[in-house]
Amino acid sequence: MKGVILAGGKGVRLYPLTKVTNKHLLPVGREPMILNPIKQLVSAGITEILVVTSTEHMGDVVNLLGSGNEFGVDFSYKVQEKSGGIAHALLLAENFAKGERIVVVLGDNIAVKSIKPYVNNFSRQERGARVLLKEVGEPTRYGIAALDEENIVEIIEKPGKPKTNFAVIGYYMYDQQVFDFIEKQRPSERGELEITDVNNEYIKRSELKHDILEGDWTDAGTFESLFIANQMLNQCQNKIQE
Ligand code: DAU
Repeated sequence: MKGVILAGGKGVRLYPLTKVTNKHLLPVGREPMILNPIKQLVSAGITEILVVTSTEHMGDVVNLLGSGNEFGVDFSYKVQEKSGGIAHALLLAENFAKGERIVVVLGDNIAVKSIKPYVNNFSRQERGARVLLKEVGEPTRYGIAALDEENIVEIIEKPGKPKTNFAVIGYYMYDQQVFDFIEKQRPSERGELEITDVNNEYIKRSELKHDILEGDWTDAGTFESLFIANQMLNQCQNKIQE
């Protein structure tokens, strides 16, 4: 299995912190934000990792991460020339994946306990995709899952009237079908290729499984959530708990 970290986008909600740098290079606890997603993939045994980021900040990202030697991994890099959405960024990973399964992590998602158990569950899954859910306080900010007794029946991106508080968070596991789904996608009203539409394609085929993430999690894309991310990673000194 290979790993993909999506670290493009403009980080507009964090302006002016992101005026001259990339959101994923901002400090969280003792390290730049992007190190948490990297350590998460490493903790799950994934060592071939593609980092996707914007043209302006690719140089800084490569300066920070290098070849991967320091982390015991092998990094590849791809430039996302415009902020076309999460699924748009993921499509850049098609050649890198070479038909293998992938674990995709959003560069601004911060978690303290290892995602390894969920990646192991995905390895045992015959086909399809797997996502992680977390109960959140502000469901209108996320992709929100509607559930029956066993499965996710629909995901709605930033719903006006959320049916649950279960957010589909930024750890996505996919088989090779993911790229066909993205290629057939149309941009949403906000002009982005949405990861939620990709996940809904898997739901249509009854091929989307899920787990509920244990332990603390936050995104770090707003001032409030960046503050929480700092508190979380300060407390554990940026270490991932097995
Ligand atoms: O944090 C979890 C949430 O992330 C999910 O619940 C939502 O379903 C999902 O759409 C996403 O919502 P956000 O609105 O918070 O996504 P944002 O635009 O902040 O992008 C999250 C990360 O994805 C960002 O840190 C970098 C990457 N990204 C985003 C865009 C728009 C890219 O690499 N390229 C892009 O063009």
